[in-house]
Amino acid sequence: MGAEQKHKEGAFAVREFRAEDAAAASEILREAREAASWSRQALLEFMPLPGAVALMSERAGRPTGFVLGRLVADEAEVLNLAVREECRRQGEGRALVEELLRRFAESGVSRVFLEVRESNRGAMGFYERMGFRQSGRREDYYREPQEAALVYEQNELSTRLVPKTS
Ligand SMILES: CC(C)(COP(=O)(O)OP(=O)(O)OC[C@H]1O[C@@H](n2cnc3c(N)ncnc32)[C@H](O)[C@@H]1OP(=O)(O)O)[C@@H](O)C(=O)NCCC(=O)NCCS
Repeated sequence: MGAEQKHKEGAFAVREFRAEDAAAASEILREAREAASWSRQALLEFMPLPGAVALMSERAGRPTGFVLGRLVADEAEVLNLAVREECRRQGEGRALVEELLRRFAESGVSRVFLEVRESNRGAMGFYERMGFRQSGRREDYYREPQEAALVYEQNELSTRLVPKTS
């Protein structure tokens, strides 16, 4: 896969994350304080790792959101996700995560995990809508500010996902 995908409901497209997107992605993270703050360098170092999947959403050529995940055998993790504030609640986060999950499923992944700051109600609502369920809690997991993480999990991935239509 790798073809650009025009999303039906909105004027955004989901595509591969490219090295030249790293600066824009780290800028998106600067305004998305709830997400893990990765520098441009950290993003560039992540991309070539085995099992890494990185997707970018854009509007009129301008990067507006991204998701990063990594798979190991039949398990995978969503590592970072953010959509520009002015572009939220228009289906962009969903399109990014669904494409990530579709790729995980294609690679034989059946369980997907992620961590969310305990105070990040918005992300919890989002991930629950995406089919994740809370499966644990990690005390003092985050720093600056120090906070617990809630662990979310989704199982039987391949049976839930619909085939790609475009
Ligand atoms: C989480 C995030 C990526 C969601 O992106 P988005 O493009 O707004 O999400 P979508 O529009 O695809 O939302 C899909 C559904 O998820 C749910 N949802 C999304 N944001 C929500 C919120 N703040 N509160 C409750 N439910 C929410 C809704 O059911 C929504 O459907 P609806 O708009 O039709 O009601 C975005 O809010 C964000 O960038 N937040 C800051 C960074 C962050 O928290 N990242 C996650 C770190 S683990």
